[in-house]
Amino acid sequence: MSAATDGAETVPSIHVEHLTKDYHLGDNVVHALRGVTLEVCPGEFVAVMGASGSGKSTFMNLIGCLDRPTGGVYLLDGLDVANLTADDLALVRNRKVGFIFQGFNLLPRMTALGNVMLPMIYAGVPHKTMEERALAALAAVGLEERADHRPSEMSGGQQQRVAIARSLVNGPSIILADEPTGNLDSRTSIEVMAILQKLNAQGITIVLVTHEPDIATYCKRVVRFRDGRVIQDQANERRRLAAAALAELPAEEPEVSVG
Ligand SMILES: Nc1ncnc2c1ncn2[C@@H]1O[C@H](COP(=O)(O)OP(=O)(O)O)[C@@H](O)[C@H]1O
Ligand SMILES: [Mg+2]
Repeated sequence: MSAATDGAETVPSIHVEHLTKDYHLGDNVVHALRGVTLEVCPGEFVAVMGASGSGKSTFMNLIGCLDRPTGGVYLLDGLDVANLTADDLALVRNRKVGFIFQGFNLLPRMTALGNVMLPMIYAGVPHKTMEERALAALAAVGLEERADHRPSEMSGGQQQRVAIARSLVNGPSIILADEPTGNLDSRTSIEVMAILQKLNAQGITIVLVTHEPDIATYCKRVVRFRDGRVIQDQANERRRLAAAALAELPAEEPEVSVG
């Protein structure tokens, strides 16, 4: 049980036991995960660290239901996803999980609003509701006035905020972020962490991959992978608040588009 468990009744957001993943490449087998056992409870904010190739992205893809494990158990909000059909798995993923990636993964021809509306199209939400919810999500990341801009007309930080808004529109219980600050400068990275801390304070569970120790200091718990295994799992007793860190930075020109 993790430190965040406040009673026997708590259903973990993520519960994995002896999770394994093998990739077959011709005659070779890559053991990307070699038996990961881990629990993440509602409201946690976990940093996943570890060298390149240690299995971090593989782990994220499995807990995000983007891929299926080779072995082991995975319960997402108490639901055993192994028994789901591909369609049901996609439905669960769409409803429960929001994704943020290093490269933002926005569609270049669409506006910010269009990008944020996309996950709701798959969820079958009426158009008017889609637009209202997308605008609310853009407002939540401070970008309502950029709704009509395309990705090329926005800075990296703004694009990542659009991606965060997109991750929010279906009201996920979990956000999975794979190196979300990997393409951003340090101030913009802290701005992204401030938004994620705000969402976490509102109750969203967050699991975030990073190789930057500075970024991990904003998380509540740090899990370290090596060679497909968890080698360290510690509460971060000295968690920093990104909003406070930003206030201490010297004043800077407003962010400009890098188009
Ligand atoms: N789709 C894939 N096919 C084959 N091997 C893969 C695939 N994805 C990842 N791997 C391998 O699995 C291991 C773990 O990779 P990954 O989870 O991407 O690590 P990390 O995100 O920590 O850098 C690596 O050896 C990688 O080469
Ligand atoms: Mg990776």
